[in-house]
Amino acid sequence: MENDILRDDIASFIKEGQIEFTKFANKVFFITGATGLIGSLTIRTLLYLNKVEKLNIKIIAGIRNEEKAEKIYRSYLPDKALSFYKVNLGVDKIDITGKIDFIIHAASTTSSKVMINNPVETIRTAVGGTRDVLELARKNNIESMLYISSMEIYGQVFKKNKILESDLGYIDLTNPRSSYSEGKRMCEMLCTAYYTQYGLNVIAARLAQTFGPGILPTENRVFAQFAKSAIKGEDIVLHTRGLSEGNYIYTMDAISAIFVLLLKGKNGEAYNVSNENNHTTIRNMAKMVAEEFSGGKSRVVVDISEVNWGYAPDVKMWLDNSKLKSLGWRADIGLRESYNRMIMYMKQG
Ligand SMILES: NC(=O)c1ccc[n+]([C@@H]2O[C@H](COP(=O)([O-])OP(=O)(O)OC[C@H]3O[C@@H](n4cnc5c(N)ncnc54)[C@H](O)[C@@H]3O)[C@@H](O)[C@H]2O)c1
Repeated sequence: MENDILRDDIASFIKEGQIEFTKFANKVFFITGATGLIGSLTIRTLLYLNKVEKLNIKIIAGIRNEEKAEKIYRSYLPDKALSFYKVNLGVDKIDITGKIDFIIHAASTTSSKVMINNPVETIRTAVGGTRDVLELARKNNIESMLYISSMEIYGQVFKKNKILESDLGYIDLTNPRSSYSEGKRMCEMLCTAYYTQYGLNVIAARLAQTFGPGILPTENRVFAQFAKSAIKGEDIVLHTRGLSEGNYIYTMDAISAIFVLLLKGKNGEAYNVSNENNHTTIRNMAKMVAEEFSGGKSRVVVDISEVNWGYAPDVKMWLDNSKLKSLGWRADIGLRESYNRMIMYMKQG
């Protein structure tokens, strides 16, 4: 493994013994979005488990771009446990023939620019791709499938209390940016449909914004932009007023939720994956990053003169994680420490 911070994260997570990893021994995983943040961290964790616990887990990594995949997994290749399966979801059929036991479906459009400029493709990847992955799961009579959803499916919720899984808010269907949130709503609905009609073991994980060690150098979501500005001592520029209240979770806390849900989640249901303590406005988060990690060099400035880049509308919601906690899961890492570890990781390269 290439980076000490990431290796420490994975090693300490496994050592902590929160998950009964032996239940994955000799099983085959199909993981989509394998070159993305969540997919790659899940795969790295499984490969590390194979190394230290000798679990003989096989991983079929669903990828779109071979070059990117080879770069990300360079330090693991050749590893007989890992194979790549090239597929453009929503476009190509999935024709994997061997047996699959677990599926983690983490592929999705995640760039706001793509959502705005290519909403048709965004919906096709989400709905078409998820339907094909669910069909694969059905053919394999898999033990469990986890669909990685998002807190964005809630839309704008006008509620004072914390958001439960049964709450649902408003999504503007005339805004192309909603291709992501509404697409994910439909994907969750497809999961419910496959569970109800075919008895498929499938669960949805509604992730809060997830970041930490493991992000790619090309990552451009807001958490990476803040960290990059602080490292360079440049101003953190907000392109909105920053009033939206974000819900955040550290990468390895999200990965532990994924494994807990695969083993203990209730089929046909959805779970919020958030750290309730990691809740703040974008502006306050930017201030914290500037103050704590730039050595006093960065300021927070607001520039909303830019054309609309497709930001999700302002939301004020606080994700309740008690349903996930009731499965024995907990989040360990706070917001400041998330940035601290991610910035150390980025500096190490
Ligand atoms: N990271 C977060 O903050 C966060 C928050 C909420 C939900 N999620 C969800 O978690 C999942 C994983 O997100 P991530 O953070 O790893 O994002 P990411 O952008 O790092 O990875 C997404 C992956 O999906 C792949 N992909 C996109 N379109 C595809 C297609 N048509 N065919 C095949 N592969 C395709 C990309 O190549 C990439 O590997 C996504 O469903 C995302 O919506 C992430």
